[in-house]
Amino acid sequence: MDFVGANILSVCQFERADIDRVFGVADAMAPYAQRRKVTRVLEGAILSNMFLEPSTRTRLSFGVAFNLLGGTVRETVGITASAMAKGESLYDTARVLSGYSDVICMRHPQEGSVAEFAAASRVPVVNGGDGANEHPTQALLDLYTIRKELLANGRTLDDFRIAVIGDLKYGRTVHSLCKLLCLFDKVQLTFVSPPELAMPEAVVEKLRAAGHKVVITDQLEASISHVDIVYSTRIQEERFASPEEANQYRGRFRLNREIFTRHCEPNTVIMHPLPRDSRAEANELDTDLNEHPGLAIFRQTDNGLLVRMALFAMLLGVEELVDDYACPVRWHSRRSPV
Ligand code: CP
Repeated sequence: MDFVGANILSVCQFERADIDRVFGVADAMAPYAQRRKVTRVLEGAILSNMFLEPSTRTRLSFGVAFNLLGGTVRETVGITASAMAKGESLYDTARVLSGYSDVICMRHPQEGSVAEFAAASRVPVVNGGDGANEHPTQALLDLYTIRKELLANGRTLDDFRIAVIGDLKYGRTVHSLCKLLCLFDKVQLTFVSPPELAMPEAVVEKLRAAGHKVVITDQLEASISHVDIVYSTRIQEERFASPEEANQYRGRFRLNREIFTRHCEPNTVIMHPLPRDSRAEANELDTDLNEHPGLAIFRQTDNGLLVRMALFAMLLGVEELVDDYACPVRWHSRRSPV
């Protein structure tokens, strides 16, 4: 695909070669993401973050990624902080905001809303999550992480086993990730969820059509015994009619050190898109795994910066110029020598 000026709305718009390109640019972003080097390649450019649902890492990492490329970020957080609370349409909001911005990232509670917004925008729009539908940049950073973690264990994206656990009905991150996995070969997937929160049939069919083996179960312990990746997810309480309905499912599938040690192969990588629900009644991914070397959740969040920097550079057509606009990290020079 041609990234320059494109919207990023769904992982379905990617071919495998596109993924390889994004990951190659993401690799090159490491010195900038780690603040060892500075680039001003997007100096003068403005990102508008429009987050109409809560977010910590997606919103902040979009903003930080843009700042690290030299650009400026403007933010609207929560629907009550925008004129949409006064009845303004997605169309009008997009027309207005795209006059002030070079790229817009949006999160919205309704499926399809970001695509509707993008259709009216005059600048590229990146979907930061639209209801239970998609979260394409999370899927890219998850896949980037899986690739790195597999490589460290001598495996590749074309032959691995993953157990995906939790709320697979409403979890947009797993919808996007599984669709993306259709671009690869010989993936064995086990979906572990209560039957009521199963992976949508359309996603399962797409995976099977891609030749992947898919097992659907509500048995956690047997499912995590022979996999390379366990990918845990939170019950998406905001999608349920009431907290009481969500409460039926909280804490149903818990991964902790004891269960991991008893059932998983030692090299199994533990992932979660975050936030994890650390309240006692949920706790799907226990903090007693925090120091486990296989816990990749914070490697995921670090990788998100690389992937989001890569996407901004590619959407704005400057990925080849990043190093040309590099300069020293000035604030480091004020540190006392160690
Ligand atoms: N993974 C993710 O989307 O996290 P936030 O809700 O904090 O952005």
